[in-house]
Amino acid sequence: MWGKLPAATGAVPDSMRSAISDDSLISLHVSLLSGILNRVRLYPANIATSFRSLDGKGLGNMANSKPVGIGIIGAGVISEIYLKNATGSFDNIRAVGIADLIPERAQARADEFGIEALGIDALIAHPDIEIVVNLTIPAAHHDVATRVLKAGKSVYNEKPLSISRDDASDLVELAARNSVLVGGAPDTFLGGGLQTARKALDDGRIGEPVAVNAQFLGPGMEMWHPDPYFFFQPGAGPLFDIGPYYLTALASMLGPVRAVSGFARASFAERTVTAKGPRTGDTIPVNTPTHFASSLQFASGTIGSLQASFDVWETRERGTVLTIYGSEGTLHLPDPNTFGGPVVLVQEHSRETEELPLTHGHTENSRGIGVSDMARALRGDEVPPRASGEMAAHVVDIMVSMLEAAETGKTVELASTMQRPAALPSDR
Ligand SMILES: NC(=O)c1ccc[n+]([C@@H]2O[C@H](COP(=O)([O-])OP(=O)(O)OC[C@H]3O[C@@H](n4cnc5c(N)ncnc54)[C@H](O)[C@@H]3O)[C@@H](O)[C@H]2O)c1
Repeated sequence: MWGKLPAATGAVPDSMRSAISDDSLISLHVSLLSGILNRVRLYPANIATSFRSLDGKGLGNMANSKPVGIGIIGAGVISEIYLKNATGSFDNIRAVGIADLIPERAQARADEFGIEALGIDALIAHPDIEIVVNLTIPAAHHDVATRVLKAGKSVYNEKPLSISRDDASDLVELAARNSVLVGGAPDTFLGGGLQTARKALDDGRIGEPVAVNAQFLGPGMEMWHPDPYFFFQPGAGPLFDIGPYYLTALASMLGPVRAVSGFARASFAERTVTAKGPRTGDTIPVNTPTHFASSLQFASGTIGSLQASFDVWETRERGTVLTIYGSEGTLHLPDPNTFGGPVVLVQEHSRETEELPLTHGHTENSRGIGVSDMARALRGDEVPPRASGEMAAHVVDIMVSMLEAAETGKTVELASTMQRPAALPSDR
């Protein structure tokens, strides 16, 4: 399949077995053996369920202004910032409990933030928990979210929403059927930097968007993450791990993507963990491409390119680039894996370069702002949640289509679509 890709044996190291459930293990084996490209049921545009259909109906409760209780499943690295923000930055949500396949991890986070450590089923059933924030590894996102939705609760997944189109569309459909919400990270597009860029775009500062350039070029996660196995398996790699920041930022500003094409490779058959910790020196088999050069065409007609890599050791230019070229100017966006600026506008006629003053807040690491926004929708806010399952599912479709395009050498037309989320009010 991929150049230098080792035979997918389905072998999962012992270090990983402890971190995933039997169900996840099975689905990981299936993914490794058959590849996610074999799971090609499309996500039809006519079931791209807009949250407009749910807006306020059976969900909203204007009379109830008490904070929405949240529970976290997955007590790994990223749970710390979610809990910090849920307990300190967003007053419309309240962290109630945390669960993990490894109970000691949940207990440690619970002690750190003064919340309950719970079993997974107990957390989902907890009467004070209305939204479950799913911070498990990508291969477990669908299974965990399905359990939550089937229990009649709303769920917010870390990115990617799932690792296949089928799973992504299933979550959107299941949530709609059960009159609950599904949402997905990243929520960096709600940060002060990208909302300022969105306003400049909507105000016509660069005219009509003509093209985009998105680039993330760097070495791999084995250099810093204490347990980096999952980054090199199907459902991760630079496209599924970092791509969602770039693709969500672009889709939230420019709307849905119509078609993609491109190439991909896995430059190294295995990676050695150099991050300090229990896995230092471990060897990780690479079972997914780690360098992508893809093209995309938006439904609006804007075209562009995305390069995403864990295989590049040095770049003369910035490794992180996100630029929108318009008919009357160019907008240089900040790193979409951050919440702040700078946002730089270069106008065609004057050739002047201007760093735009930020029009919105949430410029520090505000992970969880998407959960807070979802909580407003649960309480009857006027708009559907911005970090919607529909948009996250469309981003999964874009990424899976890029994989397919690289494998087949053909342009892939997307079957899914999405609504551009409303801009965030500047005073929020
Ligand atoms: N680490 C980061 O900087 C970062 C940043 C943004 C987003 N994310 C995303 O957050 C998610 C988690 O990343 P992480 O770095 O925290 O990973 P991690 O490996 O540190 O933590 C994941 C946790 O999930 C638990 N888990 C796995 N399967 C489970 C299951 N079926 N049920 C319950 N618990 C399960 C594991 O035991 C582990 O404690 C991923 O989707 C990742 O893409 C991570």
